[in-house]
Amino acid sequence: MIASALLIQNINRIGIFSSLTETEIKELLNYASYEEYKENQMIFNENDSGASLYIVINGKVKIFRVLSDNTIHEISNFTDNEVFGEMSFLDNQARSANAEALCETSLVKLSADNFEQFSRAFPDAAFRFHKNLITEIQARLRKTNDRYSYHIIWGKTMKTALAKNYEELLQSNIELSASRNFLYNVINSSSDIIIVINDGFEVMLFNSGAERALNYKASDFINKSAQKLFYDARAFETLISDVLARKSLSDYEIDLKASDNRKIIVSLSAFTLSPIVNGSKFGEGLVMVARDITQKKILENQLRQNEKMIFLGKAVSEIVHDIKHPLTIVQLSKDSLQIKLEDFLLPHPQLQRDVEIDFGKIDESVERIQQIITNTLEYAKVVPGKKTRIDLMEVAAKSIQLSRINLKDNEKITLDLKSSAGAPIYIEGNASQLEQVLVNLITNAIQAIKKDCIGRIEVALSASEGRACVSVTDNGCGISEDDMQYIFEPFYSTKASDKGTGLGLSICQAIVSQHDGFINVKSCAGGTEFVINFPLA
Ligand SMILES: Nc1ncnc2c1ncn2[C@@H]1O[C@H](COP(=O)(O)OP(=O)(O)OP(=O)(O)O)[C@@H](O)[C@H]1O
Ligand SMILES: [Mg+2]
Repeated sequence: MIASALLIQNINRIGIFSSLTETEIKELLNYASYEEYKENQMIFNENDSGASLYIVINGKVKIFRVLSDNTIHEISNFTDNEVFGEMSFLDNQARSANAEALCETSLVKLSADNFEQFSRAFPDAAFRFHKNLITEIQARLRKTNDRYSYHIIWGKTMKTALAKNYEELLQSNIELSASRNFLYNVINSSSDIIIVINDGFEVMLFNSGAERALNYKASDFINKSAQKLFYDARAFETLISDVLARKSLSDYEIDLKASDNRKIIVSLSAFTLSPIVNGSKFGEGLVMVARDITQKKILENQLRQNEKMIFLGKAVSEIVHDIKHPLTIVQLSKDSLQIKLEDFLLPHPQLQRDVEIDFGKIDESVERIQQIITNTLEYAKVVPGKKTRIDLMEVAAKSIQLSRINLKDNEKITLDLKSSAGAPIYIEGNASQLEQVLVNLITNAIQAIKKDCIGRIEVALSASEGRACVSVTDNGCGISEDDMQYIFEPFYSTKASDKGTGLGLSICQAIVSQHDGFINVKSCAGGTEFVINFPLA
């Protein structure tokens, strides 16, 4: 190759050629070839054999490798007056990378064979060039090695650190999900109602306990306002302001509302989840844990009511007992006065009639008071009577017979007895107490039918599945919804004070429960049905 003076000077400046004279370079270039490459043209490929080194005269060369995932790893670029490919030149091994011209590029190619020929002609120059080349390559290798070993060490450290991190991450993830599952199970298997709401009162958590107690699905409330869960909107507002004032509450009694509008009385604890930042009300949420105490409340009320009734019963029976004596005196004094006045009044027929009316009123009132006394004492001392095997049909027939006395002035009311059982219905009981029950029910039925209305009262008996049934049905005024809850309470009466003491049904209930039975009532504006249920003997 004929080399210009400028090219020779430029090559002389390259490290590995710097030990040669310009003449020696010119001689060396005589053994080299000149090559031109177009943009993107390959100069050599990985694994190619070829022991040549290249000097870039002008242009740009990229040395790169194609990795297993087909991505390109660029090793280095060479431009004007730089040398590449010297490794193969020295060790005669296959190419370990690709070389590609990045633009129009001209190169000087010096093969190991050509250099051998030069060495024979110029051994001294060849030795100097070789020495320089090896020093240069050693330096370059050290650099590469350092970088390589740095990468390895760094990579290893990173890998160990990452692996350690990964394991720790994995472990803490397992622990986290285990504790999350644990918490989830604790929250969900709790029979308590657990609800968490955010600052906007939207439900964030609604556990199974809440689902069961309130008969809702969690999805009905998640991300929706919790307000609907409270029976009274104002009570909810008060709860919130109490929580905000005190940060936590316990044993707070409030009413929740089930999906069927049932009132659920709960004892509630509430606390806010920290951190409370940036003016948030409840921080990460307001946790409300509530326990359904509706049944407990009912029982407590019943107990209180029972205690009240026991006290009242005692007090009333004492008072009533005390009234009996002066009442007898009133009756006897009236009778004696009536006898004493008889002769005196004979000449005064008008006065006699007036006095008779007054005496009649005294008699009526005394009788009424005596009736009240009898009922009250009866109620106060409903003690289990002697029980025998009795036929309900006989009891019912006797009760109807007794009740007919009350009907004598009301011919528009029919009172019938029927039985759907083909045979006698036996129960274990006290006949006179059971008659008292039926007479009370029939009396109520008669009183429920308005004067001059056509009334129908039916006493019906039946037996099935080991139980005996007696029902008393009327077509009277019915019992209002408001009254219904009180009718079995002693002294509850909607009747005029001279008609009802309000003890009839409470006496009935006491007797029936002593016979292991129970009473049900159904009523509407068109009439009422009382059904008593006993175990068959
Ligand atoms: N068959 C019925 N129809 C309509 N209302 C009834 C009937 N039976 C009971 N009631 C209602 O229940 C209330 C309580 O009845 P209960 O028999 O206990 O007392 P009372 O009849 O008012 O008084 P008492 O029976 O002591 O004379 C009655 O006042 C009435 O309002
Ligand atoms: Mg009554």
